[in-house]
Amino acid sequence: MKISDVKAIEILDSRGKPTIRTFIKLKDGSTYSSSVPSGASTGKHEAVELRDGDAKRHQGQGVLKAVKNVNKIIRPAVIGLEVADIAKIDRKLLKLDGTDNKRKLGANAILSVSQAVTRAAAASGNLPLWKFINQLFFNKKKPRFPRLMVNVINGGKHANWNFDIQEFMIVPTSNVPSQALQVAADIFQRLGNNLRKQKLSTLVGDEGGYSPVLPSNEQVLDEILTAAINCRFQNGNQFEFALDCAASEFYDKGRYILQKTGQRLTDDELRRYYLKLQKTYHIISFEDPFAEDDWENFQKLTSDAERCRQITLHGPKIFKKGRDPKTAQDQFIVVGDDLYVTNPKRIKKGIDLKASSAVLIKLNQIGTVTETIDAIKMTQRAGWKTIISHRSGETEDPFIADLAYGAGTDFIKTGSVCRSERLAKYNRLIEIENKL
Ligand code: PGA
Ligand code: ZN
Repeated sequence: MKISDVKAIEILDSRGKPTIRTFIKLKDGSTYSSSVPSGASTGKHEAVELRDGDAKRHQGQGVLKAVKNVNKIIRPAVIGLEVADIAKIDRKLLKLDGTDNKRKLGANAILSVSQAVTRAAAASGNLPLWKFINQLFFNKKKPRFPRLMVNVINGGKHANWNFDIQEFMIVPTSNVPSQALQVAADIFQRLGNNLRKQKLSTLVGDEGGYSPVLPSNEQVLDEILTAAINCRFQNGNQFEFALDCAASEFYDKGRYILQKTGQRLTDDELRRYYLKLQKTYHIISFEDPFAEDDWENFQKLTSDAERCRQITLHGPKIFKKGRDPKTAQDQFIVVGDDLYVTNPKRIKKGIDLKASSAVLIKLNQIGTVTETIDAIKMTQRAGWKTIISHRSGETEDPFIADLAYGAGTDFIKTGSVCRSERLAKYNRLIEIENKL
C-alpha cells in the first residue's frame, strides 16, 4: 500500500518538553502515528535532536523546525512510496539529511517518520507491530519476551542528585510480563510504604522511581532489599538487581566525583567500588559504569565480569589457585549506553575491544528503525545481551515494547511501575502476552 500523506505536529513529552509526532496516511485513508522520546543524560555522540533555540517558545526547546522538515522536505519525498519498503524509505531519509549525525533534518524528525512508517506497514499487512518486525528483520528467530529492568529508585540527574547512581532497578526473574510486573509492583508498593513510614519522600523522578534523599547508594539498595524481603521475595530467586550508573554525568577531567560526599575517585577506585557492590548485592548489570569515551575502564570491568563468569563455570579448578570463593557467586553484564549511542560503528569498535558484554538500544540515539535493527543484530551476533530502552522524557507510544518482543531482546528497560508513559510499554507487553 502506498503512502498518500505525511503530517508532523509538535506535542509534549512526559517532562512537558516539546517533541514530535508524525502521522502517515495510506492510500486506503487509514492513518498511523508515532512519537519520539527525549533524553536528559544524553550521550555526546548521539544523533542530533533538532530544537528551535527560539527563546520565545518553550525556552528554546520547541521542535517546529523538525516538524517543518517533515512537512516540507520529507513529505514530498515519501508520498507515493510503498509503505512496506521500510529499508528503502529509511535510506531515502538518510539521503535527504546527508549528514553523519542527522543534524540537517534532526534525528527526532527522521525517527518520527521511520517509526510511523513501520507501524503503518505492519497495519497494512494486517500484522501486529512485533510480528511485522519479527518477520521482516528476524525471520529465523522466535519472538521472545524480554526480562524487565524496572526502575524503582531514581537518582543522579533524573532526581536532583539525591545520590550518584541514576537508576536502581529490579529485574524479575520471570520473563512472563504479567508475572514479572506483579513482582516489580509488589516491591515498588512496599518500598513506598516503607519510605513513608520513615518520613522519606515518595515523590517520583523522571522515570517513575521514588527519589528519597538517602545517605548512600548502599542504603538505597538496602531499602529495596527490605521491601523485597517484606514481600517474601529473595534476591537471586524472584528478582535481581541492575544499575545504570550514567557515569559520564559525574566524570570530570580524569576523576569520578561523587556528588553527595565530594569524594574524587580514580577509575580504579570506582571499579573496585562497583565490584564490592556487585558482590554484596548480587548486581547482574552495570550500565555506563564509566564515562562515554572511557573505553579502557569499560574493558577492565568487562574482563572482571568474564573472570567471575569463568569462576562460576569452572569453580573448583580456579578456587585451588587461591580465588576468593565469594566471587564465584555471581555473573554480571557490563552495558554500554552513552558509550555506543546505538551506533553500529561504535558497537563494532566495542566488540573488537571487548569493551562490554551488552548494548543498550535507544532508537532516538541513532534515528531510524533500520539502523536500530542493525545495531540489535550486530549485538546479537557477537553473543552479547541486548536491552531495549526508553528515554527519561517519554510519550505514550509503546513502540519499544513491540520492538523488544519482535527482536527477541534479552531485556527491556522502561522505567518504574508508575507514570502512564512508562506503563504504556509494560501494558503493551501484557497485551502481547494475551495475544492482542
Ligand atoms: P536518558 O536516561 O534518557 O536521560 O538518557 C536514560 C538512560 O540513561 O538510560
Ligand atoms: Zn543509561
